[in-house]
Amino acid sequence: MLAIELLALTLATFAGTAYGHKNREFHNVHTHGIHPLSPRNYITPETRRDSYDYIIAGGGLAGLVLASRLSADGQTTVLVLEAGGTGDDRRTTIDTPALTYFDSLLGGQYNYGYTTTAQSGAGGRSMNWPRGKILGGSAAVNGMYIVRPNSAEIDAWHDLIVDDSNKAYADSWTWSSLLESMKKSETFTPPTSDAESTAGMKYNTGSHGSSGPLHTTFPGYMVPMTSAWLPTLAAAGIPTSEDAYNGNNLGGFFSTMAINPTNWTRSYSKSAYIDPLPPRDNLHVLANAAVTKITFADNVQDGNKVASGVEFASSASDTVKSVSASKEVILAGGAVGSPQMLLVSGVGPKDVLDSAGVSVQVELPGVGHHLQDHLATGVSWATTEDTQGTIYQSGSDFSKTAEFLSYVNCGTAYVNGSSLFDGDEAFNNFVTGVKATLSDPTTLNPLIPSSDPAVVEGYKAIYQSYVDKIIPEAGLVEILFSINSPGVITVQAALQTPLSQGRLYINSSSVFDPPVIDPWYFSHPADAIILRQALKKVRSFADISPLKELLGEESRPGSSVQTDADWETYARNSANTEFHPGCTCAMLPRDKGGVVDASLKVYGTSNLRVIDGSVFPLSMSAHLMAPIYGLAERAAEFILTPPSSSSGGSSTNTGANGSPTGGSNGNNNSGAVSVRAPWVAVVGLVAGVLLSSL
Ligand SMILES: Cc1cc2nc3c(=O)[nH]c(=O)nc-3n(C[C@H](O)[C@H](O)[C@H](O)COP(=O)(O)OP(=O)(O)OC[C@H]3O[C@@H](n4cnc5c(N)ncnc54)[C@H](O)[C@@H]3O)c2cc1C
Ligand SMILES: *[C@@H]1O[C@H](CO)[C@@H](O)[C@H](O)[C@H]1NC(C)=O
Ligand SMILES: *[C@@H]1O[C@H](CO)[C@@H](O)[C@H](O)[C@H]1NC(C)=O
Ligand SMILES: *[C@@H]1O[C@H](CO)[C@@H](O)[C@H](O)[C@H]1NC(C)=O
Ligand SMILES: *[C@@H]1O[C@H](CO)[C@@H](O)[C@H](O)[C@H]1NC(C)=O
Repeated sequence: MLAIELLALTLATFAGTAYGHKNREFHNVHTHGIHPLSPRNYITPETRRDSYDYIIAGGGLAGLVLASRLSADGQTTVLVLEAGGTGDDRRTTIDTPALTYFDSLLGGQYNYGYTTTAQSGAGGRSMNWPRGKILGGSAAVNGMYIVRPNSAEIDAWHDLIVDDSNKAYADSWTWSSLLESMKKSETFTPPTSDAESTAGMKYNTGSHGSSGPLHTTFPGYMVPMTSAWLPTLAAAGIPTSEDAYNGNNLGGFFSTMAINPTNWTRSYSKSAYIDPLPPRDNLHVLANAAVTKITFADNVQDGNKVASGVEFASSASDTVKSVSASKEVILAGGAVGSPQMLLVSGVGPKDVLDSAGVSVQVELPGVGHHLQDHLATGVSWATTEDTQGTIYQSGSDFSKTAEFLSYVNCGTAYVNGSSLFDGDEAFNNFVTGVKATLSDPTTLNPLIPSSDPAVVEGYKAIYQSYVDKIIPEAGLVEILFSINSPGVITVQAALQTPLSQGRLYINSSSVFDPPVIDPWYFSHPADAIILRQALKKVRSFADISPLKELLGEESRPGSSVQTDADWETYARNSANTEFHPGCTCAMLPRDKGGVVDASLKVYGTSNLRVIDGSVFPLSMSAHLMAPIYGLAERAAEFILTPPSSSSGGSSTNTGANGSPTGGSNGNNNSGAVSVRAPWVAVVGLVAGVLLSSL
């Protein structure tokens, strides 16, 4: 009953079955041989070279940024292997921003269509977990928000790795450095005067880039009801941000979007970084090629394994082919694909590899751990005013214009604890309660799905960063204005500081079988409390002008939900991914279960990196594209020009024979064994501590 309705809040926003266009999938038959649209870069398996300087496994958001930058000198040879197709048969759907809702690519071959394991904290649901399987990755199928994180989050990330790293690399991951890289990736265009006078968006051109490949701007048309967003938030105690792109993203604003204003098309890593390139014989892109395994040389270098290349195939039944890398193999498969590639190649927790029948190459117990994600739910009302969905459905001439079709939801706000918890005292009590759960082993240990001592230290370090540095400063939730359905206004609330961390692992040695995804949603009850507070705030908007005048009856969750307990139950039963999973190849010290060091190299290897949304050790209050563009830009710089390795702590990648440097390896191979106590008991305990402190 409720389930379908609830799912509608996030996923169906993109599933867009209501408006048809179902059978476009195959109208451009993909021909073998050189691709007509981009003759210089596309190859077939037969036309590949034997060896490239760099092999990039995954042609998604990060992968194509790297491909473009690493091949820029015209000499360095680069091969991109992408499991999905080019997307050229769905060009219009990809290019047209509004079709992300009305003709979503999530319904077909360009979505991996993962599901999570049954989530006991979330009503036992197995949730849909879409990921783009296409050149451009999830950036080709997503909602186009370009939001930058809060500086406190990036600086907390830096603090987690700085003591253990070459300082020159670690200092890439400070707010000021990442800001420069995010600016480098973009060309920002201010809104049109029509859009600006409708929605009243604020922006500071000085915080944006002006010569990067990615286009960012606002939609060319703003639906009239967007004018209600900022004044309603302000009247609800969420002030309008004058500039959310400079390290303080608190408050209400309209997000910039990854849209090219010259023709109102989606801007993403493929259209921004690859399609416009001049001829480059040294860059090859092979679509429909999944990396099935990273191959390692027999010799070791300074105790580290040397990646010699990769194997790949188009499907489980295709013949496996191989290709060599003379410099590096770079994984850019995203939060699911990169840990999966490591695991099927023998890099990961020994027990996981053993039970999947994969022989161990590098024992690295943190691979797949620390999975963090944003959870979104919301409140919906009927409306008789025109939403985007109403206008689209009308089929009017206006509804077919490029300006109208560039509208995508972009009204947003990040809200901190003191604004969510009715003042500083209530919020401080909440934080005190959370701290208590993390300092008491009886409540902390059951939140950690590993018995490996190093990995356990990583979980603790991440928790500590949240309570000490992030939760006091940053937005705990994002609040979003969603008007793409006809007759409905939804205000979503999405958790940004998840205290629940889960894990991803394999139960098969084949990359063509889906990995097991267990985000362990709501394992820490603080997450439900934060969402509850946000949802109460959102419902209060119904009494606040000017939004009030647009709203009819509340359709979801409706009047049966009243008490705090009702709201928490609703959150648990209705929340779905906001599509921002990360942290599965976390950048942490090796003695805290890290997977990559500050230079993004995989521990125990000499020339294997991971560069994508899986390497962040912490969740951030942002949609993930902007920080991933920044990460990839910065990584390309230091791969091409390594910083001098002088100052700072020891180099982090020098463990002999692949064993952890610095202490607590515990020579215990039971790294990823799930040791979770019965979930209900944990929640009872932790909730007791939290509630008593409120
Ligand atoms: C529905 C949806 C909506 C979203 N909305 C937004 C939004 O509005 N704003 C925002 O900032 N973020 C959004 N996101 C998140 C954002 O798109 C991702 O965080 C981002 O694209 C991740 O970049 P990445 O490079 O880590 O991985 P991806 O962009 O996902 O790329 C990974 C690539 O690797 C390929 N790959 C994986 N395994 C293999 C293998 N074994 N061999 C070869 N190739 C492989 C995949 O096919 C894919 O192309 C959304 C995501 C989704 C799914
Ligand atoms: C919380 O946010 C509000 C508005 O965005 C701001 O005025 C206030 O200073 C913030 N509080 C803290 C502790 O940062
Ligand atoms: C949009 O404009 C860019 C140039 O800014 C161009 O490269 C691209 O091909 C155009 N897209 C379409 C669909 O016309
Ligand atoms: C492996 O995990 C997948 C994904 O969760 C699941 O569908 C499948 O049933 C599991 N297979 C086995 C043998 O456990
Ligand atoms: C490793 O952990 C297992 C299970 O927790 C335990 O039985 C074993 O004694 C440990 N071994 C070492 C060497 O600590």
